[in-house]
Order: sequence, then structure tokens, then C-alpha cells
Amino acid sequence: MTGFSEFSRRSLDDREGFWSEQARLIDWKTPPVQVLDYSNPPFARWFVGGTTNLCHNAVDRHLKDRADQAALIFVSTETNEETTYTFRQLHAEVQRMAAALKDLGVQKGDRVLIYMPMIAEAAFAMLACTRIGALHSVVFGGFASVSLASRIDDATPKVIVSADAGSRSGKVVEYKPLLDAAIDLANHKPTAVLLVDRKLAAMKIVAGRDQLWGDLRQKHLNSTVECEWVDATHPSYTLYTSGTTGKPKGVQRDTGGYAVALAASMKHIFCAPLQGASGPAGETYFCTSDIGWVVGHSYIIYGPLIAGMATIMYEGLPTRPDAGVWWSLVEKYKVTVMFSAPTAVRVLKKQDPAFLKKYDLSSLRALFLAGEPLDEPTARWISESLGVPIIDNYWQTESGWPILTIANGVEKAPSKFGSPGVPMYGYDVKLIDENTGDELEGPDQKGVVAIEGPMPPGFMQTVWRDDARFVSTYWKSIPGKLVYNTFDWGVRDKDGYFFILGRTDDVINVAGHRLGTREIEESISSHPNVAEVAVVGVADALKGQVAMAFVVPKNAAVVADAAGALKLEGEIMKQVDGQLGAVARPARVRFVTVLPKTRSGKLLRRAIQAVCEGRDAGDLTTIEDPTALQQIRDVVAR
Ligand code: PRX
Repeated sequence: MTGFSEFSRRSLDDREGFWSEQARLIDWKTPPVQVLDYSNPPFARWFVGGTTNLCHNAVDRHLKDRADQAALIFVSTETNEETTYTFRQLHAEVQRMAAALKDLGVQKGDRVLIYMPMIAEAAFAMLACTRIGALHSVVFGGFASVSLASRIDDATPKVIVSADAGSRSGKVVEYKPLLDAAIDLANHKPTAVLLVDRKLAAMKIVAGRDQLWGDLRQKHLNSTVECEWVDATHPSYTLYTSGTTGKPKGVQRDTGGYAVALAASMKHIFCAPLQGASGPAGETYFCTSDIGWVVGHSYIIYGPLIAGMATIMYEGLPTRPDAGVWWSLVEKYKVTVMFSAPTAVRVLKKQDPAFLKKYDLSSLRALFLAGEPLDEPTARWISESLGVPIIDNYWQTESGWPILTIANGVEKAPSKFGSPGVPMYGYDVKLIDENTGDELEGPDQKGVVAIEGPMPPGFMQTVWRDDARFVSTYWKSIPGKLVYNTFDWGVRDKDGYFFILGRTDDVINVAGHRLGTREIEESISSHPNVAEVAVVGVADALKGQVAMAFVVPKNAAVVADAAGALKLEGEIMKQVDGQLGAVARPARVRFVTVLPKTRSGKLLRRAIQAVCEGRDAGDLTTIEDPTALQQIRDVVAR
């Protein structure tokens, strides 16, 4: 067997040969005519001429060999439900949902926005969309009406699928009122809203628009809906993610490339430790993310199902009813691969370690962690507790699957604490000098992590309805080069291992959730007593980062005493909760009379962040008012 470096080199030197082999991992209705069309860089078109279907690859194709095997295991420790759907049952539910969507007028190419808690119906809805060639756009359930409204206006969905409520820590979190408010705010109006009634909260039904899933499911109990064979390049979904501006970007993904990329990643990366003759089919995968994020799309829904595995969909906290709940699921369902985020592990680390000893975890082969930097103490603790490889992996909503990791399915590579690993096959990763655009070839130099095109299958095709933004944001931000910018700082050591040092833009990472500080600033600015605001991400021992807001009030008198400041801080937090969702709420709001800016009026966010973290604020020759930073220092110290 050849080593990983050869495997990886071939993926770049002979892209078409490499990926045409990987393409055999999925079913095609018609095989591709051309593996890669890169005639119009940076737009890469994979598997041109081929037709396939994501839902077919995730569900239907397994009916032949494993119809009665578990496919989707829904577990809610919020409502104490636990339901296993076999591939046959999943197939039936997805067809019912597909028939319901068609009934509501959804056709190939239409968008369906999914705003749902972690319930099985959300998976049915996603799979039903790809089954009929409609694009799903899942919006994280933790977002509130203003975030939701901007996504409704961008995606212009024909139908929205939602539910009465979710539940968090035993408390009902209503979705329907937020959805109604969002539809009121949005310019675009969906023709129908399909609602799952969990009977957690009463719903105000809008006549003529709102439909109940229970009714339509009954109507279509025996409906069959065949898969719509779509071109490999047909978009399967859009997923919004934050960047430098306040307006989220709709990351658009194709169908054939994504299916191949996921199938290949399941084989080479995620299931490498358990590659038997029959592959991982029949085993159980447990990814603790949420369907509202890219990890949920790729590794709760599509990846495991494409690989013929059972996938666990979990609603609840890792610590309720106690900190052993995830491990009890590993034991009960004989989970072989788990995928989570460092924050979740840090939460568990604070609990009694006896919970890890209480269950039989012998089925588990590896724990993958992604979404934020994995610190050494956390990695060591979980690795010693579980006794299985802990595999850090670095990627983005844009990429859809890991860019850097050490699991490669070809040979065992040693891990290094603090590093997610080396570039995966298909990725030509570079480090670039931010100012000159030159490539940094030597070891231990800090630069921007960039990727040379063409991007491998599975990578975003474009920004939804905005090719120009795709090119200008991602491909033209490094001077003199057409190269993909990850907006992460990185360093590569002499062995080729990368270390990720944080974002170069205004994106922050709170508990593995990617948030834009500009969006939070816009929400805070709309408070009547806010004149100016700066939001920065500050290091936090548990969540990785938290948002800190510095506000110049219009009327300084209201924050003259501690009680007044506390009141305005509370109002601002409540406003962010209501508009964007509690996930975006700043941990602290502090009041100042002036913000640190350059003489040309640009906010010195990096300097503010440095001061908050007790670091040197760097070059301040351009600052307009040097007392501004002192004020930040003072209010932070308080
Ligand atoms: O800054 C990097 C960080 O999360 C960003 C991408 O977030 P998102 O689009 O939500 O996709 C998450 C997919 C796992 C990256 O630009 N990030 C992600 N993984 C890691 C990471 N930072 C350090 N180490 C990681 N393993």
C-alpha cells in the first residue's frame, strides 16, 4: 500500500483520476461524462453530465441490503422520546414528507426553509427536499426573528417547515411566534408553512397558509414519490453563514460532488479506524451537532446515511439527566464513531468523571472534534478517559468536509496537540503573507490559510444568487492571486502540521457556533439609546470565545450609576435575544464615551480584543483618540 502523501499527491496531480475512483462510492442514474470542468475558475463543476440524487444515495439504495436495519435513531432527553426508524421506515416517512411538499406546490429548484428543533421530522424534510430536487435551507433553531427574516428574504422559499416548539433544559422554547414575526418582517412571503405539532406549545394557525404535518402525513400515508434524478451540478441546498458584513452568505452546494465527497470522507476519514471488509454499514454514528450547522448536514444526516450507517439525532443537553447521557447512548446503540465539539467536552470535563466509567464504551473506535480550536488539556482529558483516538479536524461551512485532519484511511499518522493535522486529499493548502500575497514556504511562519483552486468535490459552488460576491469575498481578497481565503490565521511546522490561530475577519466562534460580530453590532445599534457599538470576541475558558459589546450611549446620563448601566445592559441583551437569538447575546455590555478608531473612522477591533485579553494592543499610531483604549481597559478591569 502506498502512503498518505502519495495518495494525497495523486488527488492533486491527477484530480480527475482520483475523484472518478471516489465517484464509484455512490449510485449514479447516468455516469458523469466529464469528471471536472474548471474552464471558468474559480467555479469548479464536478461530475458534469452525471445524474444522481442525494436522497437515493442516503436512503433508497440501502433498501436492497438493509431495509430493516436502523437508519435514524431519534433521542430526546427533553421530551423523553426515543424512536428508531429503519431504512424502510425512513423511506416511507421521507416519501410522505415529499408528497406533502409537492402538495404545497414545491417543485424542483424551489427552496424550502427548515426552521426546526432536532426532531426526526427535520431529517425527513431535508431528505424530502433533495428527493424532489428542491433546495433546503436549514436555519439554526437558536436564531430569532430578524436573523430568520433576512434568510427568508435571501432564500425566497416557497414553503417553510417548522414546529410549535423546541425544548432546552426542560423549558419549552417556542418557534412558531418567532417564525410568524419573521414572516411579518420579511418582504418575501412563503405560500405555505408546514408545521409539526409536538404539543409543546399552542400555535396560532394562519388560515390558508399554515398546514399541519399530522394532517398531510395522514393524507399521504401511502404515497410514493420517486427520486428526481438531477444533474450532479444541481444545487442540493443553501446554508447561511456569517462573514465580514452583516449580511449572511448563502453557501450553495451541489449534488453529485457533495455525495461523492461525503462518501469518500466516511471511508477515508471518519470510518478509517473501523474499515472492515464490508465497510462501516450497519454500525452507528453519533454526531452531537445540530442540523442548523454544516456539521449536522454532513455528519448527522447525509454522510452516515450514505455510508449505510445508523445515525443518532439527539435533542437535549450533554448533562441532562446527567453527564452520562451520551455515553449511555454509546453503550445502548453500540456507537462506533462519535463527532462533537471541544466546548461539549469542556462542559463534560467539569462533571464527575465517574460517568465515563459507568457505561460499556468498548464499541467506540474514535471521537472526532471540530468547529473550534481543541486545547491540550481538553484533548488529554478526553483521550485518557475514553482510551480511543481523539481526532481534531478543521473545516468550514464552505468546504462541507474536513480540510485538515490526521485520519486519512491510508496510514496511521501521529497527532500533535494543538494541531488539527495536515491537508486532506483534494486540498492544496497554502500559507500566504497577508500583505504581499506571497506564499510562505518555510516552517513556523504565520500567514493566512489559503487553498489553491480547483476546490475538491463537496466544496461550495458559489454564494446563492451572488457569483460576484463568491469571487470577491473568497477569491480576490489576497492581493494579486486567485486563491481561496479561509479567513483563518495559521502556522505550519517543519513536519507539515498546521496550527489554526483564529480568524482574520470579524467572525467569532462561541461554543463552536460561528457568528458575525457585524450582525450583533447591527442588532445592538437599533436600540434607541445606542449611538455607537463595537463587538469583539474575547477568549473564554469554556466557550472558546464570547462576544463583548462596547457601547456609546446616546444619553450618557442613563448609565451614570451602576443600576442604570445594568438596566441598559439588560435591555440590549434582551434585544439581541429577540432579534438574533440567545446564541448571539454578548456576555457583557460595557459603556464608554468614545470607541477606539483610526483617524479615518475605522473601528480598531483587533486592538479592543487585545486589550480585553490582556495582550499588547499593537501599533496604535493611527488611533484618533488614545484615551479611548484606556476607557476600554478601565471598564474591562471593573
Ligand atoms: O475558524 C475556523 C473554526 O471554525 C471556522 C468554521 O466554522 P463553520 O463554518 O461553522 O464550520 C465548522 C465546521 C467544522 C473555521 O474557519 N474551526 C473549525 N474547525 C476548527 C476550527 N478552528 C480550529 N480548529 C478546528 N478543528
